[in-house]
Amino acid sequence: MAIRVALLGTKFMGKAHSQAYRSVNMFFPGAPQVEMKVVAGRNAKETAQAALSYGWEEASTDWKAVLRRKDIDLVDISTPGNLHYEMVLAAAKAKKHIICEKPLGNNLKEAKAMANAVKKAGVRHFLMHNYRRAPAVALAKRMVEDGRVGKIFHFRARYLQDWAMSPELPLLWRFEKAQSGSGALGDLGSHIIDLAHHLCGPIAQVSAAMETFIQERPVEPGSKTKKKVTVDDAVAMCVRFANGALGTLEATRFALGRKNHNTFEINGSQGSIVFDLENLNNLRYYAADDAADAQGFREIIACTKGAHPYADHWWADGHILGYEHSFTHSVNDFLMAIESGAEIHPDFNDGLRNQQVLDAVERASRSRRWEKVG
Ligand SMILES: NC(=O)c1ccc[n+]([C@@H]2O[C@H](COP(=O)([O-])OP(=O)(O)OC[C@H]3O[C@@H](n4cnc5c(N)ncnc54)[C@H](O)[C@@H]3O)[C@@H](O)[C@H]2O)c1
Repeated sequence: MAIRVALLGTKFMGKAHSQAYRSVNMFFPGAPQVEMKVVAGRNAKETAQAALSYGWEEASTDWKAVLRRKDIDLVDISTPGNLHYEMVLAAAKAKKHIICEKPLGNNLKEAKAMANAVKKAGVRHFLMHNYRRAPAVALAKRMVEDGRVGKIFHFRARYLQDWAMSPELPLLWRFEKAQSGSGALGDLGSHIIDLAHHLCGPIAQVSAAMETFIQERPVEPGSKTKKKVTVDDAVAMCVRFANGALGTLEATRFALGRKNHNTFEINGSQGSIVFDLENLNNLRYYAADDAADAQGFREIIACTKGAHPYADHWWADGHILGYEHSFTHSVNDFLMAIESGAEIHPDFNDGLRNQQVLDAVERASRSRRWEKVG
């Protein structure tokens, strides 16, 4: 069964997802065949160029017309957050399977309606928290499930970047709540909340502090006219998991020198695990039952061998993978789930639970109290 895909959005994620559709059948021959039918953007010239260089058959500047097409099975939404809601509702109504970028909606109300819409339509749905499918993260999940970490006491995650620190940087869509929902919280925080849910289970309560360090930004590059920034630049969260574990999660665009520092540490009764996206082929592990005279963190488990998740589909042992491969793995797993009918996560229900945490974090930052999730 071939799956005919339409992509909405041509830039950062549009390109990352296109790479995944291009590579998936080459490296995962078990996946249904992908037909890259059409890419939609706003600017005709740029979208035509994207179609040509990313390998899409056609370009369109009318995403609504794309969704009306009968020859599309799967719609991939890689646009800013304010468009996810409208696009998901329209795609569900047109009975298309959906991949949506994170966070699911721009607020809890939207996310609830989106989760309901796909359920009602009976279509398959997947949220692109791609980091779950970096081989080292997939190995961490396997180790948690196999009991190699034991009872989890702590989940500690940081997602740090520094690209927003210049006051000259104009008011991009990412700085406007109406377009992005929130700032570092939804952009970076949603990824580590997803990893927390994936590896440690549901977050039940949060306390949090959010801060906007640069309050106004030029409306366009070089302009003297400034407009208010309506999202957070940084957020620090303290969380209680339903299973009793404690967590600390931090997301910021103001950690000078940190470019894409997405890292977590899990401490359990039997072992500890450390992952760092900037060293993404490797996982660090400490085992309580190692011989007493050989105890210590295994500095590197190189997750590039046949024994490791996804790795056997790529190159020989030790021939490392990168950021883009996590998207190929995500697309493969979703295509396989469409074909087999198997469960797949994160889906829009996971996206809704994530959004409930985002909502509780905003409430907690305002109230300065612990807030329940959901
Ligand atoms: N999974 C990840 O690691 C990751 C990384 C970055 C961004 N994201 C998410 O991906 C989404 C897009 O972010 P991005 O960084 O690609 O943004 P971007 O600004 O690079 O690209 C946005 C794209 O949306 C298109 N677009 C905007 N309005 C449109 C419209 N009305 N019709 C059709 N296309 C339209 C733009 O033309 C552009 O191609 C966001 O939800 C973001 O949170 C996810």
